[in-house]
Amino acid sequence: MSDAIRYERVGDIAVLTAQNPPVNALGLDVRRGLLAGFERAETEGAKAVLIYGDGRTYFAGADIREFGKPMQAPSFADLCTRIEASPLIVVSALHGTALGGGLEVALSSHYRIAVPSAKMGLPEVHLGILPGAGGTQRLPRVAGVGMALDMITTGRPIGAAKALENGIIDRVVEGEPREIGLAYTQELLEAGAPRRAVCDLPAPKGVDFDAMHVALLKKGRGQLSPATALRAVQAACEADSFEAGLRRERELFMELMNSDQRLGMIHAFFSERAVSKLPELKGVAPRVLAEMGVIGGGTMGAGIATAALLSGLKVTMLEMTDAAAAAAQGRIEGNLKGAVKRGKISADQFTALTTQALTLATDYSALAQVDLVVEAVFEDMSVKKTVFTQLDAVCKPGAILASNTSYLDINEIAACTSRPEDVIGLHFFSPAHVMKLLEVVVADKTAIDVVATGFALGKMLGKISVRSGVCDGFIGNRILAAYRACADHMILDGASPYQIDAAMTAFGFAMGPFAVADLAGLDIGWAARKRLAPTRDARERVPSFPDKLCEDGHFGQKTGKGYYVYEAGKRGGTPNPDVPGLIDANRAELGLTPRVFTDAEITRRYMCAMVNEAAKVVGEGIARRPLDVDMTLLFGYGFPRYHGGPLKWADIVGLDDILADINTYAKGDDFFWQPAPLLQQLVADGRCFDDLNKEAS
Ligand code: CAA
Repeated sequence: MSDAIRYERVGDIAVLTAQNPPVNALGLDVRRGLLAGFERAETEGAKAVLIYGDGRTYFAGADIREFGKPMQAPSFADLCTRIEASPLIVVSALHGTALGGGLEVALSSHYRIAVPSAKMGLPEVHLGILPGAGGTQRLPRVAGVGMALDMITTGRPIGAAKALENGIIDRVVEGEPREIGLAYTQELLEAGAPRRAVCDLPAPKGVDFDAMHVALLKKGRGQLSPATALRAVQAACEADSFEAGLRRERELFMELMNSDQRLGMIHAFFSERAVSKLPELKGVAPRVLAEMGVIGGGTMGAGIATAALLSGLKVTMLEMTDAAAAAAQGRIEGNLKGAVKRGKISADQFTALTTQALTLATDYSALAQVDLVVEAVFEDMSVKKTVFTQLDAVCKPGAILASNTSYLDINEIAACTSRPEDVIGLHFFSPAHVMKLLEVVVADKTAIDVVATGFALGKMLGKISVRSGVCDGFIGNRILAAYRACADHMILDGASPYQIDAAMTAFGFAMGPFAVADLAGLDIGWAARKRLAPTRDARERVPSFPDKLCEDGHFGQKTGKGYYVYEAGKRGGTPNPDVPGLIDANRAELGLTPRVFTDAEITRRYMCAMVNEAAKVVGEGIARRPLDVDMTLLFGYGFPRYHGGPLKWADIVGLDDILADINTYAKGDDFFWQPAPLLQQLVADGRCFDDLNKEAS
């Protein structure tokens, strides 16, 4: 027997207990152990087999670390077929998360019982694959095609009650999985219950698969796995036999397993978990965090306060006047009402949060006892310095003083206090109670337990926290500035903002850069351009059309006009007819003759600019690892998850080709297209970004 599966006999029942912490992933040892367990149970004359998991969960799926390596026998599919074919009564007792291959093992069992808190799902589409061990054939047979498609194409797990309602499990009982499983199995034996294999159930009735296929491709913005999984479910309805359906599932599974999207999504899965694990934080206790101050109750400050309140922190919101404080309160309450509407909190919780956990103030002395304060005031160094000087005067010793600046130098801000070791950047993304990314910006003198507290706060708020060093724009906005500049250059040379937006949404971004700029507010970029103007290199190509829009008072969605025109009550905008004229005037001013860009060239230049700047960010140590950049772009900038992040994408398409393209582009503009030394080094060494991730882990 393998160590990962414990075998024991309880009367007529052979009990197979998974012991593969932390999540009982179905790695090779577990699969071998299960197979051996069945063989032994059958040889020894047991009448039934009970499968359950030790620790926090039943099997949470395949061991994802084995993906991409040759599958060693027994394969999942063979294991599930073998379990289902057993002449003994097979029962699975589920708790925790029965996911992916885990649920497939359960579906191959003849009976299923679960504790009420158990969750079940087939999340494979989130890994760029589909359930490959009969899940697409068995689930529709037990739950019907509608339910199966919902679970398989969204990857969303369901609770035990819903699973019971839909025939996915047979019984829900409170208790320990072992005890409830044994009692149920015993009961089945005593009642003379028959073997009951899902594969013997009739093929389910189909739906309009072609229409759904088109809809899924559109919804997934090019993500292949949900649409491909749909085809596997179609085979459950239409194939000549269960076995033929299984064969079709295998073909489609292998198609996805060999796809670049699978590489991207698995990179995202592990990076998401690795990103906040920093070696230097091992064993460092964060400071106590119970009360938080937020300065500035605009959209950003109100969002930060909302996120903090929802995580259980007490919040003091500081504004300049009573009227501004009341407006801030209104924004926070509006956000929290949204949380009530979405079922995240109850009406009673809303009342408690707004009346007990939130305090509004207009005097800095109200922040004297907070453990951490985040300022979200106007993005101007002198304003920030005034705020920090006052915080330094009133906050208790050990309080953490954080700036939510998007660009400014945290070292300079820290230097105006008597306690730079307590100063850190906590860069949230708007709306801060929704967006997952938090850049934890570590300045030269930031104390290590302050960094640990930044990450602890991110965890409390349910954020993906990424460590960044100090530079203009930190990781995300610095890279954004580079690819946005590349987009502006392409416009000067002949592309249109709308063609670029369309090309980048076709690549998989939720929005193109110009629609994003309209959403964020064009005044933000305008202010940044004005701030940077005095330090700009004369060789830099700086367009004037974005400034012209702002000079005319068009700041994007909030003023109803930007690159697009927005009509009240309508989602999205239509191209602003004034923009081409502004661009033409800018080209004429510079003596440029526009040329035609293909969508492919737009995408390639845009991505090369992103990768090149990202490589500089890693090379300079602003981001510790390539995966830090990848997670920043994924969770803060709408980068398509199925490409894994810009540097994973670069690894997949090939660093040498990217460098070659950058060198070609440099012939037209050798100032902008200076290749990143790290990229050159990796190409010279025949290595890739992921090698750096591995070295750092
Ligand atoms: N394989 C390998 N490692 C896994 C894993 C898996 N399936 N699931 C989780 N882990 C690891 C995580 O990487 C993490 O490792 P570190 O501590 O080293 O970072 C550890 O287990 C704990 O995971 P979480 O931090 O995510 O713990 P959690 O309690 O927040 O969540 C979970 C638990 C819900 C199971 C979550 O980990 C999860 O969703 N896992 C993936 C489940 C999944 O996608 N299963 C399907 C696999 S594909 C499949 O089964 C294909 C098939 O057809 C055969």
